[in-house]
Amino acid sequence: MWGVCVQRRCVHSSLSLLKKTPIRLKGRSPAEQRWLQRQISDPFVKAAHVHSFRCRSAFKLLEIDDKHKILQPGLSVVDCGAAPGAWSQVALQRVNAAGADPELRRGTVIGIDLLNIAPLDGVQFLSNHDITDPATHARLLDLLPNGEAHVILSDMAPNASGYKDMDHEKLINMCLTLLDLAEKILQPGGALVCKYWDGILAHKLQEKLSSVFGSVKILKPKASRKDSAELYFLARMYKKPIK
Ligand SMILES: C[S@@+](CC[C@H](N)C(=O)[O-])C[C@H]1O[C@@H](n2cnc3c(N)ncnc32)[C@H](O)[C@@H]1O
Repeated sequence: MWGVCVQRRCVHSSLSLLKKTPIRLKGRSPAEQRWLQRQISDPFVKAAHVHSFRCRSAFKLLEIDDKHKILQPGLSVVDCGAAPGAWSQVALQRVNAAGADPELRRGTVIGIDLLNIAPLDGVQFLSNHDITDPATHARLLDLLPNGEAHVILSDMAPNASGYKDMDHEKLINMCLTLLDLAEKILQPGGALVCKYWDGILAHKLQEKLSSVFGSVKILKPKASRKDSAELYFLARMYKKPIK
């Protein structure tokens, strides 16, 4: 059974378990009680369960892709911070990575995470890998067809310390490392979707993205909780820097 993914952590308790087990709120901290109640009443958690997505965040990528059409059959996709695997499930379907439709071109999806990721037919996972590590970049170059990706996705997030500004800065720095990765693997004309937590350094990331992508948009999908600082940059038309 797949884990239910929450904003800054992936909690491996399933909705069905939450439903079947009488929930004893007594004895739990107020924060745990709030989290459990929010999970049970969240329509995206329910829909994730119905559609067998590993996590509610699938609906963020589905909405982004429905609107902006970044994932097409035959494309190669690198999914950074992929655990438990819901974005990879969406990418797998959209690029036809398992060859489910033999009429369409078959794409590639590679998911990377610090954590272990349960296998998914048609997706290659690099569990226990750090996407900021150049050794992971080298591995990707080997695994990708022609050493190139058409799309880099990043929903990665550090463990939240509780200090908003510190967490914001940490995630911005992680996102900045994606530009090094892009330089190595992203095709000219390629796209990057990356999650960040809004804050004073967001403009720095936006400027860096604008310097190498032809178009940069800020997105807030409906499945992204309104009370969260989470936003996404969608950067398109990659211009590989000339050295
Ligand atoms: C919000 S979850 C991603 C959920 C995923 N998009 C899905 O749909 O299943 C964020 C993930 O980023 C991962 N992460 C954080 N830092 C990372 C890093 N340096 N390299 C790889 N993964 C990282 C975390 O381990 C966590 O699993």
